[in-house]
Amino acid sequence: MTRLSLEGVSVAYGRHRVIHDVTIPTVEDGQLLGLLGPNASGKSTLLRALSREHPATGRITVDGRAIQDYGHADWYRAVAAMPQAPPSLSALRPVELVWSTARTLDLGLSDRALGARIDGLFASLGLEALAMAPLATLSGGKRQLVGFALAMVRDPDVLLLDEPTSALDLYWRLSLMDIVRDRLATRGGVGVVAVHDLDIAARYCDRLALIHRGRLVAAGTAGEVLTRENLAAVYSVDSEITTDAAGRPDVRVLRVAHPPE
Ligand SMILES: Nc1ncnc2c1ncn2[C@@H]1O[C@H](COP(=O)(O)OP(=O)(O)OP(=O)(O)O)[C@@H](O)[C@H]1O
Ligand SMILES: [Mg+2]
Repeated sequence: MTRLSLEGVSVAYGRHRVIHDVTIPTVEDGQLLGLLGPNASGKSTLLRALSREHPATGRITVDGRAIQDYGHADWYRAVAAMPQAPPSLSALRPVELVWSTARTLDLGLSDRALGARIDGLFASLGLEALAMAPLATLSGGKRQLVGFALAMVRDPDVLLLDEPTSALDLYWRLSLMDIVRDRLATRGGVGVVAVHDLDIAARYCDRLALIHRGRLVAAGTAGEVLTRENLAAVYSVDSEITTDAAGRPDVRVLRVAHPPE
């Protein structure tokens, strides 16, 4: 069972504070938390703090233990992050990249078990035919899928995803999110995903946190967070919100109200 909590978290780049005193209710085992907010609001920065890539003040805990108290090996076994930028152009082939990443981290798997895991991942992501193609020759969306495989191969307790579907077509956008949801439901663990797509957020995330200029504006269920008032205040858009058959909000953005401040 994995739980993730953030209390009074602030993050700065040098003297420039970007995240201000953010507290989000505990993400419980099996749950996916969606981070929403305009460009430059601080979603990636918060994910970098969660992954220990960038220092933060306040308290971030995984299973009640402060993240800075984890030893290096324990931490990299427990947490995997997919950055916003896909793997950069490389002479490596996808299967080599994923294999070497997994080997560097010492996941405690035999070559055979690791090979089976990678084969399964590539099959589920439709990457089999591209596994041996130079990464530099892959399309942007396919490279994003390889980036997802790089995080998933670690089979982490905490999966941090920064806009994992931003370059994907309709089919793979939903398929990737289905993989995340099914994995959380069957294996457990927690996920945090930064996302701009409100449909994905409402459909897949158990909880949402809406961030504006580094501050938390709202946290809760999609119904609580995706309100006309919140979307107007944060994104400067007029919207119409109905409830779908599953009880989730269905957001239709009508127009831009005024340029964001
Ligand atoms: N390495 C860095 N050094 C200095 N400032 C940074 C750095 N990375 C991000 N920032 C600043 O921190 C703020 C938040 O950026 P961040 O990338 O976290 O936003 P975001 O919500 O992920 O935006 P987007 O939706 O565009 O990805 C921005 O003002 C950005 O310019
Ligand atoms: Mg970002």
